Amino acid sequence: MNVNQKIALVTGASSGLGAAFADALVAKGVIVYGLARNMEKLQAIRQALGNTFIPIGIDLTDQKSINQWVNKTFSDSYVPNILINNAGTGYLKRIDELSLEHWHEMINTNLSGIFYLTSSVVPIMKRNWNAYHLINIGSILGKTTRADSAAYSATKYGLQGFSEALFKELRSFNIKVTCVNPGSIDTHFFEDSGIQSHSAMLQPKDIAELVVHILETPDNLLVDEITLRPLHPNPTKGNSR
Ligand SMILES: NC(=O)c1ccc[n+]([C@@H]2O[C@H](COP(=O)([O-])OP(=O)(O)OC[C@H]3O[C@@H](n4cnc5c(N)ncnc54)[C@H](OP(=O)(O)O)[C@@H]3O)[C@@H](O)[C@H]2O)c1
Repeated sequence: MNVNQKIALVTGASSGLGAAFADALVAKGVIVYGLARNMEKLQAIRQALGNTFIPIGIDLTDQKSINQWVNKTFSDSYVPNILINNAGTGYLKRIDELSLEHWHEMINTNLSGIFYLTSSVVPIMKRNWNAYHLINIGSILGKTTRADSAAYSATKYGLQGFSEALFKELRSFNIKVTCVNPGSIDTHFFEDSGIQSHSAMLQPKDIAELVVHILETPDNLLVDEITLRPLHPNPTKGNSR
């Protein structure tokens, strides 16, 4: 896809990887709707990126708000070309330490929220033949596990299956689906779980550039899944995902 002047939705655009996607896409001439709850952070990103970044304060676990926003923003004459389902939440806790609240938060954000937005947007795409691409941000913990990742891995393995089935369902409608599974990224994502950033982690900017490259692949070429790992181990612990 030639991404210039295309319309993209990026969830979780207020920080980390989502902010890096917004930055990389705006630099390529894409009109980016950045979705997240923290409007203050989204406004700061608009200040930095300019008016082709459109901040949308929304809770992705609220299906009604998502449907209303999609229906008032998009139509058969204004269709988004790219949806990056990036927003996510993660708590690495052993089963007897994980609260019900955190279990529901991960299921609601990492699975239900993605279903709500994707199922709102796809019908508009299907009605209007064009080039489209859905990118789902999974995780290395959707390909393998660690002792404290049962709940988080359940969501990311789930997203893996969701993505693969959707790719089979939507390819004949000219809609590409790619699941991107990164290892440790240098963001604040897992800080609550005691995982601190280190210099060997993947950099959000590098992943964003790779995803833009995947979006720009020729129309008849589909990358259905990609796994990204840091090359070097954690310098302090000797291992890295
Ligand atoms: N960091 C890693 O090591 C790592 C590794 C593999 C995969 N991932 C995946 O990468 C994605 C991005 O994570 P990140 O590392 O960039 O973490 P992050 O900086 O914590 O970003 C998470 C984003 O999700 C948004 N979000 C969370 N719940 C939301 C909700 N209910 N409604 C709307 N937005 C919501 C947050 O925005 P608000 O708080 O403003 O709503 C924030 O912008 C996640 O899917 C994560 O699972 C991360």
